[in-house]
Formats: sequence, structure tokens, C-alpha cells
Amino acid sequence: MRFSQIFSSTIGKKLILGITGLMWATFVVIHLLENLLLLNPDPDPFNKWAHTLISLGPIIYFAELVLVLSLLFHIFYAVRVTWENNRARSVSYVKTAGKGGVSKRGLATSSMIYTGILLFIFIVLHLLHFKYGSYYEYEVGGVVIRDLYRTVHEYFSDPLNVTYYIVMMSLLGLHLSHGVWSAFQSLGLNGPRFTPLMTKIGTGIAVFVAIGFIGIPLFVLLTGGAA
Ligand code: HEM
Repeated sequence: MRFSQIFSSTIGKKLILGITGLMWATFVVIHLLENLLLLNPDPDPFNKWAHTLISLGPIIYFAELVLVLSLLFHIFYAVRVTWENNRARSVSYVKTAGKGGVSKRGLATSSMIYTGILLFIFIVLHLLHFKYGSYYEYEVGGVVIRDLYRTVHEYFSDPLNVTYYIVMMSLLGLHLSHGVWSAFQSLGLNGPRFTPLMTKIGTGIAVFVAIGFIGIPLFVLLTGGAA
């Protein structure tokens, strides 16, 4: 395949969709692991970790740029592939209507574009609430850093916000349960040997991420939030 064909062929588009999706899935798993520090009653480790990341300067800006670009590519190709699939399906439906030929697709598969749009809105609001949210100061060893722990704990003191996270993280799990498996397929990891394994890995990652990200706000709320 020539380089220019990557962006126009069906396989190329699915490959970009899969690779950018896997980049985000990797980020989400790492993000979950670092956010587990929020379960610690001591704000020190979480605040210090967040401060260490910010102090990386250009490295973190580069990582953020890669994340933003991969999200934009992911959305662009997701919309294109969905649109092309729908068009192809409506043509084949006209041809096969009456022969009982329309295949049933699972909820996760058919809802990818909708869960994707909702997750994009979630990410924008998430950044506004946390990254660009309330700013408190925290002193550690004579150095004043941001008290991001307090920002998050305050936000999750409200049962409405926690409910919103439970809903969105369930949708994230649904999106990942199909997305990770589908990305592996696009990378060629399919066939009788790989498909069952990739299905298990995709489901495992989806369940782990959803339970982890639901657990954090629930834990904060049930243990007293910012009190
Ligand atoms: C319980 C769930 C979550 C918690 C408590 C949480 C917490 C946070 C916090 C505290 C920040 C600010 C970090 C900083 O400014 O240094 C942040 C940033 C971010 N979060 Fe989350 N997060 C959660 C779920 C998610 C999910 C599910 C996604 C993606 C689908 C996500 C994507 C991001 C992104 C992209 C950033 C910006 C990272 C950066 O600019 O370096 N988060 N999150």
C-alpha cells in the first residue's frame, strides 16, 4: 500500500482509526492507574505526582499534542467510516430486502458513533472541570503547588456529578469493549487463533477501565468527598 492510499483506502482508514483508538485506550489505562492515588486519604502523593507531570514541561506538551491530534484523526475517520458503512449498508439492504439478509449487530458496535460523540463532549467538560478547574494552593516541603486533589474531591462531593461519571464511564466501557477488539482486527490480529483472545482482551480492558473510573468518584463520595 502506498503512503497516500493509507488515508483513502478502507483498510487504511480503519488502520488509522484503530491505531489512534489504541493510543487513547493506552492513555486511559495509564490515566486510571495514576488516578488511583486519589483513593489515598493523604493528598500528598497525588498532588506531588500531578506536579511532577506538569514540571516535565515540553515533554508533557508534546504528549498532549499527540493526544489531541490522535483524537482529531480518530473522530474524523470514525465519522467517515460510519458514513461509508451506512451508505453501503443501505444499498445492500435495498438489494437484499425481503431475503432476510440484514445482519444483527451488537449494541456496542451499533452505538460506537453515539458513545464516541458523548465521550468527546465528556473529555471537553472533563478538562474544564479538572485541568482548567478551581485552583487551590498546597504546600509541600516549603514549595507551593496546585491542590488538584481538593479540586477533584470537591467535584465528586456532589452526587449529581458522580452519577454523571457513572453513566459516562459505563459508555466508555461499552465503547472500549468493541473498539479495542475492532482495532486489533484492523491490525490483522484476527482469525481462529487471535479473534477469541482479542475479544477477551478487549472486554477485559473495557471492564477494568469502567469499574476503575466508576469506583474513584463513588469512593470519594461515600468516604465524605472534600470534607
Ligand atoms: C474518575 C475518572 C477520572 C478522574 C478522577 C480524572 C482526573 C483527571 C485530572 C485530575 C486531570 C487534570 C490533570 C492535570 O491538570 O494535571 C485530568 C486530565 C485529563 N483527563 Fe481525566 N480523569 C478521569 C477520567 C478520564 C477519562 C475517562 C478520560 C478520557 C476518556 C480522561 C481524559 C483526560 C485528559 C485527556 C486529561 C488532560 C491530560 C493532560 O492535559 O495532561 N480522564 N483527569
